[in-house]
Amino acid sequence: MKLMSVVALTAVATVVLTGATAAAAQSGATPNPGATGNPNASPIYGVTLPEGYRNWQLVAPALEGEPLNELRTVVGNKIAIDAYKRGELPFPDGAVLVKLAWKYTQSPEFKSALVPGHATTVQVMVKDSKKYAASGGWGYGRFIDGKPADLAQHQTCFACHNALVKNRDYVFTRLAP
Ligand code: HEC
Repeated sequence: MKLMSVVALTAVATVVLTGATAAAAQSGATPNPGATGNPNASPIYGVTLPEGYRNWQLVAPALEGEPLNELRTVVGNKIAIDAYKRGELPFPDGAVLVKLAWKYTQSPEFKSALVPGHATTVQVMVKDSKKYAASGGWGYGRFIDGKPADLAQHQTCFACHNALVKNRDYVFTRLAP
């Protein structure tokens, strides 16, 4: 069961990735608009961890089951939160969304409570419709222990978001009620 879902996910990512590469080629955009040589910036997009995101407002939490078993929290800067509240799509330039993720673990004090264990990734989406025209207007970054993940991981971001939530400006998370 576990294995099957991993295989399925890989298949989806492979198929959609081909589509994204074709789209980028069609648009004629440079493949790495954000490459800066900055070791703290993500490959392809040049996105860095935004300052102060731990103080940003909540968009929504999420619980991810097998095989990742993670608790997640998406937060947004003021531009993103204001757009959410207005129900505005696409998001305006300057909107930034950050997703924090942790393995969940049982609370030592309360059996049925799952609480954050070790932090796994922090993921970032930055809206800049000109700079990131080839990827739906969003630049992507995935960080592990504060350092950007490798190129191969960044080749999957737009592909999956494009395949599944293009009609929601490539954003999965809805404002929690
Ligand atoms: C196989 C599909 C898939 C891939 C690949 C993927 N994501 Fe996502 N992403 C999701 C889903 C599903 C959610 C919403 C659920 C959740 O919170 O985990 C999400 C949520 C996000 C969010 C919060 C905003 C939103 O859209 O809800 C950010 C930021 C994000 N992803 C960044 C990235 C980055 C950066 C990469 C590449 C390094 C990436 N994603 C690759 C599926 C994917």
